[in-house]
Amino acid sequence: MSDVILELSKASIYQRENLILSEVNVSINKGEFVYLIGKTGTGKSSFMKTLYGDIPLKDGVGHIVDYDLRKLKTKEIPHLRRKLGVVFQDFKLLNDRNVQENLKFVLKATGWKDKTKMEHKIDEVLQKVDMKTKSFKYPYQLSGGEQQRIAIARALLNDPELILADEPTGNLDPQTSIEVMEVLQQINKNGNTILMATHDYALLLKYPSKTLKCDGQKVFEVVQKNTKST
Ligand SMILES: Nc1ncnc2c1ncn2[C@@H]1O[C@H](COP(=O)(O)OP(=O)(O)OP(=O)(O)O)[C@@H](O)[C@H]1O
Ligand SMILES: [Mg+2]
Repeated sequence: MSDVILELSKASIYQRENLILSEVNVSINKGEFVYLIGKTGTGKSSFMKTLYGDIPLKDGVGHIVDYDLRKLKTKEIPHLRRKLGVVFQDFKLLNDRNVQENLKFVLKATGWKDKTKMEHKIDEVLQKVDMKTKSFKYPYQLSGGEQQRIAIARALLNDPELILADEPTGNLDPQTSIEVMEVLQQINKNGNTILMATHDYALLLKYPSKTLKCDGQKVFEVVQKNTKST
């Protein structure tokens, strides 16, 4: 089995007919934590959307968790997304049900049937984001950071091979961003592979890691100075 989880080669990424990124060559291995940075409008979200099948890949080569992005069929997209954990800036929790029910909703939608197994899984993912005590809260009873931790727990439900987080700290204050980042770091230490788009250079400095940058319709790896701030 290969350790490569994502590989794009000479890929072009479009929004409708507009070319956003071209000649994209990116490879992510199992266990890596990779940042995707770049100014607003440079294509970070478009890049992420291509990876989770929201934008079709029309040019080049793209493989992600056993799927060929060039050959991805509409009916395969839910299966691809089950192998990915996607986390957004705005959490996207269902406000009409509590945390437990939010997570159960996803499990049922992805084919889980056994009630005890579902309860165990929910406990397990809430434990990972340190939110076990809040499982009966409704999303509106939680802070932004807590809601994002639940969204991360939700992304973990189907043991994803890759977590795609598009500006997960974008709506959070600096201290809360660090709390959410600590959770992502912990999950990465436990073996999950993570690709995270961000604007937040303070996080990059505090948690240095492999960094890809979108600029001038290209994606390239930038070398970060390894000066961890104290
Ligand atoms: N649904 C869409 N239809 C057409 N063009 C779009 C669409 N969404 C984004 N774009 C365009 O694609 C380009 C890249 O946008 P994208 O959202 O990928 O950038 P981004 O790097 O994620 O920006 P931000 O940091 O603001 O989130 C922009 O020029 C944008 O206007
Ligand atoms: Mg974006």
